[in-house]
Amino acid sequence: MNDSTERQGWLQGPHVAREPEPLPYQRAVRFVLLGPPGVGKGTQAERIVREFRACHLSTGDLFRAAKCAEHVSPAMRAAVACMQRGELVSDEIVIDLVRERSSCLRCHGGFLLDGFPRTILQARALDAILQDLGVELDAALAFELPIDEVIERLGGRRTCSGCAAVFHVVSRPPLREGICDHCRSTLFQRDDDREETIRVRMRVYEESTGPLIDYFARAGKLELVSASGDPDMVFERGKSAILGRLALTPQASVVA
Ligand code: AP5
Ligand code: MG
Repeated sequence: MNDSTERQGWLQGPHVAREPEPLPYQRAVRFVLLGPPGVGKGTQAERIVREFRACHLSTGDLFRAAKCAEHVSPAMRAAVACMQRGELVSDEIVIDLVRERSSCLRCHGGFLLDGFPRTILQARALDAILQDLGVELDAALAFELPIDEVIERLGGRRTCSGCAAVFHVVSRPPLREGICDHCRSTLFQRDDDREETIRVRMRVYEESTGPLIDYFARAGKLELVSASGDPDMVFERGKSAILGRLALTPQASVVA
C-alpha cells in the first residue's frame, strides 16, 4: 500500500503537501483499472503502485474514508448510503470529488484510477479533466474473471481499517488473524460484501460499467488482462500490458 503524502492528498483533499520520489521507469504511468467488483483491482493496484510509484486513486476508498470521518456533508452521507446498498453514487458527486482532487492526476509518478470512471458520463468528465490538465491517459486495464470466482473472492475479503490494504481469508491471509500486516490496524469485512449487496453490485456493473469497455476500446486505450491465477501471476500480466503501452508512447505527456 502506498501511504505517501500523495495518497493522503487524494484521501484528505488537495491541501496535503506532496514530495516526489525518484521514478523507476523512464516516465510516469497513467492508467484506469476496470473490472467487476472483487476481480482484484485493489490487490493489483497495491502491486502496480509499488512497482511504478504511481498514486493509487480509489473512489471507493474515498467513500469508505468519509464513512469514518467526524464531519461529513449531507451529500457525502447520501453517497455512503448508496455505497452500502451496492448502488452507484451519483455521477455529480463523484465527478466533483475527482475534480477537487485533480492535482492528484498530475502526481509525479502518475496515477492509477481504481473505480473511476464507472459510467460513460464519468468517462467523458475524466477526458475533459485530463484535457484541461494537459495530461494523457495511457490506457485502461480491464481485468476479466468468471463470475463464480469473483464472488468467491469477495466473500473472503478482509480490508484494513487503517491503510485499506486488502486480504483474503484463504488466498491472502494476514500473518496474525484480523490484524493488518502493514500497519497493525484491525481488519474488517466491508458492508457491501454481503450476498444480497454483491448481487446488486454485479448488476450495476453490467449495466453501467460494462459499456466502458467499448468506450476505451473505441479510443484505442483498452488492455484486457486475465485475472485468473494468483495475484503475482496477474500482476506480471498487468505489468507487461503497462510496459507495452509505455513503449508505444515513451515521451513525457504532462504539459508543465
Ligand atoms: P469500490 O471500492 O471501487 O469497489 P468495487 O469496484 O466494487 O471493487 P472492489 O473493491 O469490491 O473489488 P476489487 O476489484 O478492488 O477487488 P480486491 O482487490 O479487493 O467501490 C465501492 C462502492 O463505492 C461502489 O459500489 C459504489 O457504491 C461507490 N463508488 C466508488 N466509485 C464510484 C464511482 N466512480 N461512481 C459511483 N459510485 C462509486 O479483491 C477482492 C478479494 O479477492 C480480496 O480478498 C483479495 O485478497 C482477493 N484476490 C484478489 N486477487 C486475487 C487473486 N488473483 N487470487 C485470489 N484472490 C484474489
Ligand atoms: Mg477495490
